[in-house]
Amino acid sequence: MPNTAPYRLLSDWNAQDRVIELKLEIAGGATLAGAKLATTSLFRIHPECRIEGATLAGQLSNHHVFAQPEGTRIAPGQSWIIRADRLSHVLRHYTYGPKSAFLILADGSTHPVAVEPMTLNGVPGAPHWEEIAPQDLPAGAAPLSVIPAPRAVSVAGRRDPALPLVIATEAPLAAQKAFSAVRALAGRLFTRDEPLYCHGEGHIVAAQDEAALRDGAYRIAFARDGITLSAGGEDGYRHGFITLGQMLRGARQRPRDFALPEAGTIDDEPRFGWRGAHLDVARQFYAMQDVVDFLDCLAWNKLNRFHMHLNDDEAWRLEIPRFPALTEKAAFRGVGEILPPLLGTPAERTGGFYTGDDIRALVAHGLSLGIEIIPEIDIPGHCHCVLEVLPELRDPGETGVYRSVQYFPNNALNPAVEATWDFLAAVFDRLVELFPARHLHAGADEVAEGAWLGSPLAVALGERLFGKAETFTLQSHFLKRVQEMLRARGRDIAVWEEAALGGGLDAEGALLVAWRESKSGRALAEQGYRVVLAPAEHYYFDMARSAEWWEPGASWAGTVSLRDTYDYDPGSDWPDALKPQLAGVQSCLWSENLSLPGLFTHLVYPRLSAMAEGAWCAPERKDFARFLATQDLMPVSARG
Ligand code: ACM
Repeated sequence: MPNTAPYRLLSDWNAQDRVIELKLEIAGGATLAGAKLATTSLFRIHPECRIEGATLAGQLSNHHVFAQPEGTRIAPGQSWIIRADRLSHVLRHYTYGPKSAFLILADGSTHPVAVEPMTLNGVPGAPHWEEIAPQDLPAGAAPLSVIPAPRAVSVAGRRDPALPLVIATEAPLAAQKAFSAVRALAGRLFTRDEPLYCHGEGHIVAAQDEAALRDGAYRIAFARDGITLSAGGEDGYRHGFITLGQMLRGARQRPRDFALPEAGTIDDEPRFGWRGAHLDVARQFYAMQDVVDFLDCLAWNKLNRFHMHLNDDEAWRLEIPRFPALTEKAAFRGVGEILPPLLGTPAERTGGFYTGDDIRALVAHGLSLGIEIIPEIDIPGHCHCVLEVLPELRDPGETGVYRSVQYFPNNALNPAVEATWDFLAAVFDRLVELFPARHLHAGADEVAEGAWLGSPLAVALGERLFGKAETFTLQSHFLKRVQEMLRARGRDIAVWEEAALGGGLDAEGALLVAWRESKSGRALAEQGYRVVLAPAEHYYFDMARSAEWWEPGASWAGTVSLRDTYDYDPGSDWPDALKPQLAGVQSCLWSENLSLPGLFTHLVYPRLSAMAEGAWCAPERKDFARFLATQDLMPVSARG
């Protein structure tokens, strides 16, 4: 569509001087006087920044309002130039720049501004990204289009790929259920394909229970007169049917490389019980269909945990009947709302939330695919919007300002305010009502150094309990109380790794997700915790895939190429004695940049499948060349 907006925002990062220039081009409309330019971005203006060409009339994290200097006038055909010399961090990719913008005229009316991708050192360009070129299967590789690669394979020959897979009528109930779920899954994922699974004519798959096969394991025996799938239960059957469907699909799409075998066996089982993917549905809202679609892609990769990050400073997405204002007010951002536009949202009210029925539908969908949904309510930090909607949760005597790494002021729930615990009781009751998962995730990441130290109530609590108020001992006190509340509701706590600070938690039943560095997981295990590994430098899919300016994403943890994800060997630095404490692995996708079209697919796929091989396969089964030649057969989300 041609750009007809009279206002266009260009931006440029001068990497030598570390100065950002914003240039508002005015093609029409009235002469600007007393106007304000509002922008959202990934960067934040540092408190010591000098700004030329405007004054900073307002800021919340990455939402900035620049006021036109008094007495100036900018006519159509002219530009308004603003320079700022100190930002929260060095800008490394175009996606760090402005994401949305609008003008506020002197009469208070708002007007959209078209935002161009930020350039580097004035060099024009356009966003682009390297797609992975199709690769040939390495010589000698088994003709097996299966990701993650099965544990033991010995197969030969090929069956007719035109025929679908059909389950034998006498198959046990668990196999019938798994077949129906996988058939429906493939129908949703591959809408343009001929059906992979049918009733009627086709390759008959006999199914038989084999109690000796542990959870998730399966065996496939191929013989000229039929295929036999054995498993210990529904998970194993589901995995087996997915493997068969992947082979059939490969044989149809790339018959030179792949086959549905005629003879031989596949013996397979997962390496880890926790094979997860996290999605931040707070920074951006994901419609139900997007989440269902993502769950489907997880299932085809044999992943079995979906970690749903339901709140953050920038939004609260889960309806809590006792506190309806949370979703009425904090699930939406816009001018005049409790939350201003942030991270790409426009002046108009936008957002969304999940009702109880939505969550029940997602949980049921996940369960039908063997995926448990672990809800995360991120506390005590990352609670800016909660505290804006429920100011009674603040200590009225609090003085001083601390700021989170994302520049949200005083954003931690206060353990010394009794209303905090009433609020959390309602939230946990709701989680328990909606989510059957054993673990409920309580966040605990990135509480700011200095949090609570300006709160007389929290200081008194710290002095009473510990002789001294200190942020992380108070955090430990907070989290232990949360752990007890979850235990009283029959659940265990999951948390990010910072929960171990200041005295930590009771290790019994607790699950810590290690994210800051690949070596942090081992240190947590040494302290007695059970651990999920999600190291940012391998498994954070919001990290850009390369250092190029035009590659989208962030890179505070470095860039994460497909190979960086693939080659990570979870637990390889752990002594054998600690390995029983390694529950598994998961990827994380933080959504700060995900307002831009096309980014979800580019950032998630095929790194998701690379992580899935790490979750499923023993290291000796991994082979990057074979993976590269097969990954293009894996599904991507329809979200784009
Ligand atoms: C995190 O990345 N803050 C867990």
